[in-house]
Amino acid sequence: MVTVKVPATSANLGAGFDSLGLAVTVYNEIHLEESDQLAIRPLDGAPISTGETNLVYQTMKKLYEICGKKISGMKIGQLNGIPMSRGLGSSSACIVGGLLGANQLLGSPLSKQDLVNLAARIEGHPDNTTPAMLGGFVAAVFDGNEVHYVRQELHGDLKFAAVIPDFELKTSLARSVLPKEVSHKDAVFNLSRAALMGASLTTGSYHNLRVATDDRLHQHYRLGLIKGADTVMKLMQDEGAYCSYISGAGSTLMAMTPGNDAEFGNRLRIRLDEAGFPSWKLLMLDADNVGAVCVESRML
Ligand code: HSE
Repeated sequence: MVTVKVPATSANLGAGFDSLGLAVTVYNEIHLEESDQLAIRPLDGAPISTGETNLVYQTMKKLYEICGKKISGMKIGQLNGIPMSRGLGSSSACIVGGLLGANQLLGSPLSKQDLVNLAARIEGHPDNTTPAMLGGFVAAVFDGNEVHYVRQELHGDLKFAAVIPDFELKTSLARSVLPKEVSHKDAVFNLSRAALMGASLTTGSYHNLRVATDDRLHQHYRLGLIKGADTVMKLMQDEGAYCSYISGAGSTLMAMTPGNDAEFGNRLRIRLDEAGFPSWKLLMLDADNVGAVCVESRML
C-alpha cells in the first residue's frame, strides 16, 4: 500500500501560457493498494468518479500497460484538498498521483523524467503536471515526446492568495474561447513578459511581476467566463499584491503578495465581502518546493 501526496499548481502566471507554472501548499492525497477488484472511494465525500473512468485509475492503468503489467483491480482512497475544475491543477494532481503511485507499486521501473513526460502527454501541456511532480517554479516545453524544463525553488518571501469562485470552469471551455491565431505583435508582447516572469521570480525582482503577468494570449478572452474576475484582480492589486492573474484556465484568481504583509488575507477578505463575493473562498498559500511524494503506508 502506498500513499501519494500531490500539491496544487497554478499555471500560466499571466503571459506564460501553457509553459510556466508553480506548486502551492494545498494537496490531494491518494491511498493505493493492489487488489483483484476495483474499489474507489472519496475519503472526504467529494464527487469523484468511482468507476473505470476515474482519472487516477485510468492513469495507473496506462502506466501498468506501458510496463507490460496487467492491472486486475485497485483499492483507491482519495482526499481531494485541491478544488476541482478551478484552475488549481486538480486533474494534474490525479494524473501525477496515479503515475507516481503505480510506479511505486511496480518497484519504480520508470525514472522521474519518464513520469514527467508521461504526465504531460496525458494532460496535454506541461505547465501544471511538471510543478505538481517536482514542486517549485517550472518553465517547461513539451515537444510531443519529452518535457524540457528548468525547475527552481521559490523564495519564502513570496506568498500566494487564491480567490476561488463558487463555480467550476472546465479547461475545455476555457480553451474553446481562445483565438486560433494571434498577431506577431501579440506574440512578442507575451514572450517578452513570460521571459521577464521567469527571471524576476527566480531572482526576487518582484517589482517586475505586475508587468510580467500582462498577457494577450488568453486572459482577456477568458474574463467573460469568470464574471467578477477583473474586479477581484484589481482588488488584489489595490491591497498591495505584486500581481494578479487567472490561475491556469480559471476560475481561480491568483495574486502573488509580499511575504511580510501578514494582514493581506484579512484585508482582501473584507474587500471581497464588500464587493459582493462572500461565497468566493480565499486561501493564503505558500510555495511548495517539494512536489509529489510517495510513502509506503498501511491501508486506512
Ligand atoms: N495552460 C492551460 C490553459 C491550463 O490555460 O488552458 C493548464 O495546463
